[in-house]
Amino acid sequence: MSHPTFLVTTPLPDPGMQMLRAAGDVVVPDRELTAEELTAVCSSGSHDVVVAQLINIFDETTLAAATVRGISNYAVGYDNVDVAAATNHGILVCNTPGVLTAATADLAMLLILATARRCVEADAYLRSGRFRGWRPELLLGADITGASLGLVGFGRIARATAERALGFGMTVRYTARRAVPDDDLGPLAGRVQHAEFDELVRTSDFLSLHVPLNADTHHLIDADVLRAMKPTAYLINTARGPVVNEQALVAALRDGQIAGAGLDVYEHEPDVADGLADLANTTLLPHLGSATRSVRATMARRCAANAIAMARGEMPEHPVNP
Ligand code: DGY
Repeated sequence: MSHPTFLVTTPLPDPGMQMLRAAGDVVVPDRELTAEELTAVCSSGSHDVVVAQLINIFDETTLAAATVRGISNYAVGYDNVDVAAATNHGILVCNTPGVLTAATADLAMLLILATARRCVEADAYLRSGRFRGWRPELLLGADITGASLGLVGFGRIARATAERALGFGMTVRYTARRAVPDDDLGPLAGRVQHAEFDELVRTSDFLSLHVPLNADTHHLIDADVLRAMKPTAYLINTARGPVVNEQALVAALRDGQIAGAGLDVYEHEPDVADGLADLANTTLLPHLGSATRSVRATMARRCAANAIAMARGEMPEHPVNP
């Protein structure tokens, strides 16, 4: 296709937009599209490829009607797209893997530290003018050194989190379908142990989630799992909100079944469950895992390159359903 048209649901950071404009026409809606508007615009026959965000939901209805040849998702995750339906309808889906591993692992570590050391509470305390000087028992938190970190899932971001946690003197275990042989563990060889999910839940001081969202992981962390955790334990989620039953989490935090939670993602973003934001034992961030300037620029470059390749009928570098 010599001069393709890209539908860009939300403008990308530089250099994404420049790349797309150099390769074809770019259409950017003047506001966030509703589900119906997304379906209508994708089926209008006017665009070759959609450059999409996590907030754009591509379900069977939208995909069945769509006339675009590809969706270039500006994220490593693609749970906003029914990939099986996209495949059935001959639509290629791409993502931006790899580039946000370190930034997201940094954020997981940040949530571990901030939640254990009551950073949000302490900051609010100082800003409110209540600080009257050092006190032996002021805002005491939990130790990181010597604490056990349980990683649920063991992909790239979990492994990068493990490296950081080991640097802080934590012991690290992970649960995955099977134990990874030492030869495949790189710098983690001999330093992390595999554990069954139930054991990890029962015995970890920090349980950090690193699984994709799918039918198997939806509400993986429910009331029973939260009840099985130590009352001194913390839940950390930088993966996807619906992996946790958020109402059950609010109840567990309120009833002292667990000590706290550090969350970057929510079950019904941008909403958070009633009561969650009132709890002092939480650190709540607005989905910032990949939010550094350089990561977002690299994601934009990859996302635009994927879109351009699909528009030209070439195989993109990061297809999810080739
Ligand atoms: C992703 O890429 O999937 C993150 O959640 C947002 O950058």
